[in-house]
Amino acid sequence: MLIRRPPDIETSEITDEKLYWNRREFIRSATGVVAGLATPSVLAACGEPRRAEAAERRAARDDELTPYEDVTSYNNFYEFGTDKRDPSRYAGSLRIRPWTVTVEGEVHKPGVWDIDDVLKLSPLEERVYRLRCVEAWSMVIPWQGFSLSEFIKRVEPTSHARFVAFYTLHDPEQMPGQRRRILDWPYVEGLRLDEAMHPLTLLTFGLYGRTLPNQNGAPIRLVIPWKYGFKSIKSIVRVRFLREQPVNTWQAEAAREYGFYANVNPNVDHPRWSQARERRIGEFRKRPTLMFNGYADQVGHMYAGMDLRRNF
Ligand code: MTE
Repeated sequence: MLIRRPPDIETSEITDEKLYWNRREFIRSATGVVAGLATPSVLAACGEPRRAEAAERRAARDDELTPYEDVTSYNNFYEFGTDKRDPSRYAGSLRIRPWTVTVEGEVHKPGVWDIDDVLKLSPLEERVYRLRCVEAWSMVIPWQGFSLSEFIKRVEPTSHARFVAFYTLHDPEQMPGQRRRILDWPYVEGLRLDEAMHPLTLLTFGLYGRTLPNQNGAPIRLVIPWKYGFKSIKSIVRVRFLREQPVNTWQAEAAREYGFYANVNPNVDHPRWSQARERRIGEFRKRPTLMFNGYADQVGHMYAGMDLRRNF
């Protein structure tokens, strides 16, 4: 599904929430499956969805888009402060043009990409993904982007590349949260190469049909829907291909609490709280958390045979 590139989107053309609701109905009837997993184009790319568990079907049927207002005002982006409201208050200071993404390490084509050249690589698709935060809340968001694999293919990883690390901008002048050592800046995240190449892994430029708001990780971020939200790194300036598994920011901060994989798993609790249930933002009741955040059919095979208690 083609959505114009964010710089072309006029404010007057912003799709309002009602249209998204109608589109969800369309997706539901066109595919015979519940909306919320992915758009038809993504489903086609991943093969027909297999029969889901009853609980999963029920939970997915209840997926309603989280209002734009909540998506853009209840954020985790520690570069702008630790309060959920800080990013929307302070991220206005982030300059998103010019913006470059440096590619380095185990690739045949290292280099510096202008963000607008990255945007031209592939048409933007809309994908409705659940985002499940490690803090046990979740949202359902219509994102715009294309599979990260489209970008990775262009830079041609060498046969030694087994992992990819991503880095957020480090600039305390623009990011007031970085003036304090809340985390070991810059924020770093990592994926195994097969996870990075998985079609669901989204290189993201927009949400709700608009350019990504700064507080949501403008101008370019990842969204990896089967992993806890902290893997979905924002405002990326560097991508490094590696032979060895990198250490991600939260793992460096508290290795006992946050692992490298961070796959959503209701059966493995965080040492300080349960991960069995979650609260959808805007709702009061809690709902069961789904294995791999409901994307088990698409991604489970990548972890076959792995001890998910040890590789959390
Ligand atoms: N990326 C950076 N650079 N800094 C952060 O603090 N927070 C992560 C992730 N990406 C974070 C980040 C966490 S914990 C979550 S839950 C999601 O961003 C939140 O994304 P959202 O604010 O768009 O919902």
